[in-house]
Amino acid sequence: MKITVVYGQNHKGSTYHIARMLAEKLDGDISEIFLPRDFGEFCVGCAKCILHDAKDCPHAESLQPITQKLDEADVIILASPVYVYHVTGSMKALLDHYGWRWMVHRPEGSMFRKQAVCIATAAGAGMKSTCKDMADSLWYWGVGRVYQYGTAIYAINYQHMSDKKKREIENKTTALARKIKARHGKIQPSLKTKAFFTMMHIVRGRKDSQDADAAYWKQQGWTGSSRPWKD
Ligand SMILES: Cc1cc2nc3c(=O)[nH]c(=O)nc-3n(C[C@H](O)[C@H](O)[C@H](O)COP(=O)(O)O)c2cc1C
Repeated sequence: MKITVVYGQNHKGSTYHIARMLAEKLDGDISEIFLPRDFGEFCVGCAKCILHDAKDCPHAESLQPITQKLDEADVIILASPVYVYHVTGSMKALLDHYGWRWMVHRPEGSMFRKQAVCIATAAGAGMKSTCKDMADSLWYWGVGRVYQYGTAIYAINYQHMSDKKKREIENKTTALARKIKARHGKIQPSLKTKAFFTMMHIVRGRKDSQDADAAYWKQQGWTGSSRPWKD
């Protein structure tokens, strides 16, 4: 099993420790991406990725190795500390660069068979909205199964965390890893995803649909009977 972990921060605090703990419990090959160390660009809003080709993004060269690691993964873990109730700016800046990959545009077929986990840690509050920031992108990328784990640390850093909290994290990551391993290779997207995809299949298959998105959907065979979650 291949696991790609994207950290919304460079430092190795609570968020890092929890995400890394989960990744190790999955017993696979782990690739790690630290933000902004490995990608620190802001979207400039040219929309060339959406309107034409992701290769035309001014940051295409530095984005490509990250895209490759996401595509190769069976499990994607997006992890961010809560900063003012949301993901870090670095995580948001990366996710902005994948607007073209949303199901309404040009989703990557392998996403529909992947699993993903959003992890957020806070001092006290904001985990739900932060997990949602990441889960929104994962769902619209088409990821077949998305789990969310947000936890309040109630401590300045990982070392100061209570024993009770550490036990809770151990138990939660063990349970999550067990579920992910049991479902590995058997993922089917939810009915909601399939329904949304079908809607887009109709839109992209219309005769007057002539843009880059429509060309991509036709090329994939998705305007016909082919579906990314079927063999
Ligand atoms: C800029 C900034 C904003 C923060 N905003 C929140 C917040 O909205 N709610 C909260 O409970 N904690 C907030 N915190 C605290 C962190 O989310 C918390 O300490 C987290 O566990 C840090 O994770 P780390 O150890 O991986 O850096 C904030 C911290 C920083 C530096």
